[in-house]
Amino acid sequence: MNLSATALAHPNIAFIKYWGNRDDALRLPASGSISMNLGSLWTRTTVTFRPSLAADELILGGQPTTGPALERVAAFLDLVRGMAGLDQRAAVVSENNFPMGTGIASSASAFAALALAATRAAGLDLTEAELSRLARRGSGSACRSIPGGFVEWLAGTDDRDSHAISIAPPEHWNLADCIAVVSRAHKAIGSARGNALAHTSPFQAARLADAPRRLDLCRAAILQRDFEALAAVTELDSDMMHAVMMTSTPALFYWQPATLAVMQAVRGLRAAGLPACYTVDAGPNVHVLCEAARAEEIAHHIGSLPGVEEVIRSGVGGAARLV
Ligand code: DP6
Repeated sequence: MNLSATALAHPNIAFIKYWGNRDDALRLPASGSISMNLGSLWTRTTVTFRPSLAADELILGGQPTTGPALERVAAFLDLVRGMAGLDQRAAVVSENNFPMGTGIASSASAFAALALAATRAAGLDLTEAELSRLARRGSGSACRSIPGGFVEWLAGTDDRDSHAISIAPPEHWNLADCIAVVSRAHKAIGSARGNALAHTSPFQAARLADAPRRLDLCRAAILQRDFEALAAVTELDSDMMHAVMMTSTPALFYWQPATLAVMQAVRGLRAAGLPACYTVDAGPNVHVLCEAARAEEIAHHIGSLPGVEEVIRSGVGGAARLV
């Protein structure tokens, strides 16, 4: 008998970022974080455990994939096999409806979909908290792609209590993310290595000390649908994370000239009365957040800036689910 399941999960964009771990192996974060799922974007993954397989296999976007990507998936499947008492290897077939390496966190939706598909294929039926905890072991931000809508990752103190919860459903606030793609090049240093460098910046301690305050401001802004307050704390938090990145050893400098041009244009739009704010992950592309009613206008604006190749738009998304 083949043990198979298919799951779909959305990537998420963090308003309050995860950057730096207390425990790199367990991916226990140095602070909490808050994000929203991106409903138009998804990863769909099928996992099939087969007695006939000698090793785990990975097909990503139609391409048989080996090397570090397969190793990371196989290590994650080992966790699932351990939980289920199963020793069969699996075939994993995964596809995204968005380009990888564009600053849209594909590892978040990838490990959220993999966690759900692999556990179901292995005959496990985990709670949302248990799934989120498991997804965290694959990629930290993946724990936030398990619950739906607006999500907070509770840093917790150990493996058991570090997981994400939904703080508001998708329909709570009709926000949009207009992603200004300024480069499609793959990043030189990925998040896993970058996260491990955060503590080398002298600014990280200050960033972490102030994190509870920013989390409170962000949570309140979401619950009250206060865009101005959300904009202020989201930009501050992104700038603080990049200050840490730029001052770590080795230094991580993700911005390009067009990145800064979009950030400045967004501040200009806001000053002119058009509510929008920016946030930038571990890459050069800029996520421009706004209320959905203004997304058309804002996407048009940023799409016309020099250096912006494309604008990818998404509203708020739901939880990871079986398909
Ligand atoms: C900048 O979750 O991608 O996007 O756990 O090493 O896979 P790993 O890191 P990852 O880090 C995300 C960093 C970020 C901020 C965020 O999404 O909170």
